Amino acid sequence: LPSGFVSVSRLSLVVVQSAQMQPDTHVYMFVCCVQVQDYLEPFRLSLEKLQEVSARATPDGTGSNWRRHIWGHENFLALDLGGTNFRVLHVRVVEEEQKMLKMDSQICAIPQEMMLGTGEQLFDHIAACLGDFLVSQDLKGHTLPLGFTFSFPCEQKEIDKSILIRWTKGFKCSGVEGEDVVKLLKEAIQRRGDYDIGSVAMVNDTVGTMMSCGYRDQSCEIGMIIGTGTNACYMEEMKNVKRVEGEAGRMCINTEWGGFGDDGSLRDILTEFDVVVDETSINPGVHTFEKMISGMYLGEIVRLVLVRLAKEKLLFKGQTSKDLLTPNTFQTKFISEIEDGLENAQNILTKLGLKWDDVDSRVVRLVCDTISSRSARLCAAALATLANRIRVNRGLDHLKTTVGVDGTVYRKHPNFSKELQATVRLLAPKCDITFLVSEDGSGKGAAMVTAVAQRLALQSRL
Ligand code: GLC
Repeated sequence: LPSGFVSVSRLSLVVVQSAQMQPDTHVYMFVCCVQVQDYLEPFRLSLEKLQEVSARATPDGTGSNWRRHIWGHENFLALDLGGTNFRVLHVRVVEEEQKMLKMDSQICAIPQEMMLGTGEQLFDHIAACLGDFLVSQDLKGHTLPLGFTFSFPCEQKEIDKSILIRWTKGFKCSGVEGEDVVKLLKEAIQRRGDYDIGSVAMVNDTVGTMMSCGYRDQSCEIGMIIGTGTNACYMEEMKNVKRVEGEAGRMCINTEWGGFGDDGSLRDILTEFDVVVDETSINPGVHTFEKMISGMYLGEIVRLVLVRLAKEKLLFKGQTSKDLLTPNTFQTKFISEIEDGLENAQNILTKLGLKWDDVDSRVVRLVCDTISSRSARLCAAALATLANRIRVNRGLDHLKTTVGVDGTVYRKHPNFSKELQATVRLLAPKCDITFLVSEDGSGKGAAMVTAVAQRLALQSRL
């Protein structure tokens, strides 16, 4: 270690350039880094460990049935709740042959208090946003079918009947768990009484993503989200779905893999920082896997590690700042920015009120890299399980398949997709997986599912 320290991360070497540093800085950096590595070690999951995790992940979730998509209607409304923003959309089929859809949309903020308020307030707000949007689109008076992308764990009884099992991702509105979400939406619209909607189709964002990618690539059989939350759906053989009658064909299963580990099966890989994130969350004990992976939590994990390293005098000369000590101030998007460049890291540390030197900014980048890398590798482990399951289901020695993906973490992080794809290749060597980033799966996908539902309803009436 002639000049600075070398640390193995993301299977590459991070070398601190130390040309301008004082000689004793090398010693400090080396000692400091060895200790930093002690804290980061539990986040580094070997391929063997990931293989074990992958073997523990058995898909089980709520399913929603769909078959061929055929447009019946030309105009659809869509609501998208459960990602970074709440959105209302108007989706139009412009040219069916060319597979052209036109979309107009509007984002509506959901204030933090409302996320923790009553269900009635939430649905009244949703109904109000939809009402305003209909006015702005000159659609009031039209009764359009509506696709509702509601990205929370639900027990889907019918296409228009879906019971919320539990809130995730920072929502905790009273009186909604155990209730039919479509009924709550319709009641809120009736309370207003100034417009109406047609039939409703409920869909999870993973399913919307798979559907919208399937439109472009017929072999898309998995939908995956790595954003505020994380989850995936895949096409399962009907004969393996015990809860649904019938043996023929396939069915889309929403795995809700965010809940993987809630039975304690991931205890061996949880770090002390994951335990704190869970305990201080509004839903302790649930969605364990999601809390190690998704955008809602990654920033907080990094913050907790930085606070600990500072307290151990391994960062910022032992000093912290008010911002660094405040939960959730270290946003997940900072991780992407910091990994993108050291200058970004330095600007962010300054904004957080921290006094940093060159070594600090590099250590912070190493922390971000370690935690985002773990997230990508864990997703890869779960994805490998799904791909292998599809392969084995079909009795194939080799499977070629496509995964439709969406979510801010996957889209915005500079290395996430590369790391995920490389790891999945190692964990599922018999699967050749293409990744297709969805173009607004939540909006388009919801409209597509609505169209299918309408067509099926029409057929059953004939
Ligand atoms: C959470 C939800 C799940 C959703 C995922 C991604 O895990 O429970 O339904 O698909 O977030 O948005």
